[in-house]
Amino acid sequence: MTENAPLSKADTQWFTHDRFGMFIHWGLYSMPARHEWVRNMESIPDEKYQIYFDLFNPDLFQPREWAKAAREAGMRYFIITVKHHEGFCLWDTQYTDFKITNTPFGRDALKEIVDAFRAEGLRVGFYYSLLDWHHPDFTVDKCHPLRNLPDREALNQGRDMRRYAKYMRDQVTELLTNYGKVDILWFDFSYKPKPGSPDEHWGKGHPERSSWDGKGREDWESEKMAKLVRSLQPGIILNNRLDLPGEGDIVTPEQYTPDAPLVDEAGRPVVWEGCHTFSGSWGYFRDEMTWKSGKQCIDLLINHVSRNGNVLMNVGPTSRGYLDARAMERLADYARWMKYNSRSIYGCGAAPLEFPEPRDCRYTYNPETRRLYLHLMNWPYKHILLPKMAGKIRYAQFLHDGSEVLFRENSKEVNAALHAQCPEGDVALELPVLQPPQETPVIEIFLQ
Ligand code: GLC
Repeated sequence: MTENAPLSKADTQWFTHDRFGMFIHWGLYSMPARHEWVRNMESIPDEKYQIYFDLFNPDLFQPREWAKAAREAGMRYFIITVKHHEGFCLWDTQYTDFKITNTPFGRDALKEIVDAFRAEGLRVGFYYSLLDWHHPDFTVDKCHPLRNLPDREALNQGRDMRRYAKYMRDQVTELLTNYGKVDILWFDFSYKPKPGSPDEHWGKGHPERSSWDGKGREDWESEKMAKLVRSLQPGIILNNRLDLPGEGDIVTPEQYTPDAPLVDEAGRPVVWEGCHTFSGSWGYFRDEMTWKSGKQCIDLLINHVSRNGNVLMNVGPTSRGYLDARAMERLADYARWMKYNSRSIYGCGAAPLEFPEPRDCRYTYNPETRRLYLHLMNWPYKHILLPKMAGKIRYAQFLHDGSEVLFRENSKEVNAALHAQCPEGDVALELPVLQPPQETPVIEIFLQ
């Protein structure tokens, strides 16, 4: 790499077309099975965490099964935690011994995962944690498992974040050199409080606001990192968690569904991806019970696409290496729905403003085919009024079975049929009394 080589622009076209990806959080934390932050939450020292490393042996690891379930669910790309905050590496890196090839399992799981997902036609993404609670140069801060030790300041003697930043670049170089084309690199995360900000999320920190409080672009040497990434993998999509304003290609809200398409500070639309869990944890969490229903998961995808967003839906494989029944069920819910309705997702985004959404509905729109997709989240009784649609519809049908949906658009006719007053210019679709057997039915509208 030469210092001034022109940097490629990210290729986000496939990304906004494909809309749906699988997030995979897998590491040693799948053994305690009580959150991927367990080391932090329970302040577990290295010596105690070591037991998971010594015993890690996913004997039922079949990445082809993960990949098949993802493809059938309609997911078109995946992003795997190659290293999470615990510092454990899923690949055969030469820069640390804290890696999967040194566990009883002994194999480069990342290689097998990448091969399996590629074989199913999915694109490849790596999640790389900026935090590292195992690395000896990563300074103890307020997010670190050792933060509560009385001698924590002493612990930082001799730790050197410059060396850690170099370690990250070395590892990223391995990852972006040895695994073929990588489509997405997803760093996580920066947490330096902005000057003057109340820093609600991370509490008050230390009174003197030192680097103890958090870490950001200077700690990661983010500029160097971004350059390195783009020079190694032209076209790669880089997320926005390096704390480099304007640098990321995608905005990544977490466990949150925006009401309107996201925009940047100047009001321009941005490419964005919401990441979500099926339940309340990213890593496998045996006793966590807040699993979303199949319908919630499907509606979450519709909501994102209708606001120009992607969904990155997470699974946390068990320590034996399989996706548990709850995760498989949710993926199957997606599969059942996507099999018949994916045309309202792929290639689609927010509908133009000339099509105002009816109550309890979401539109998506495919600008290439000029088709509008009406998602009925809450099944109405016999009719639905589409505001301001008179004269705009050529034909309408259910997407799942291609059966015609009749409509009236002359307001006199509409009023006579409904025995009601309807606003001029609206269209009434005539619906069956019973909801078709779809979690959320979709009507495909061919525009004039
Ligand atoms: C948060 C958490 C992390 C998870 C990530 C996914 O940043 O620290 O555990 O991997 O969200 O976006």
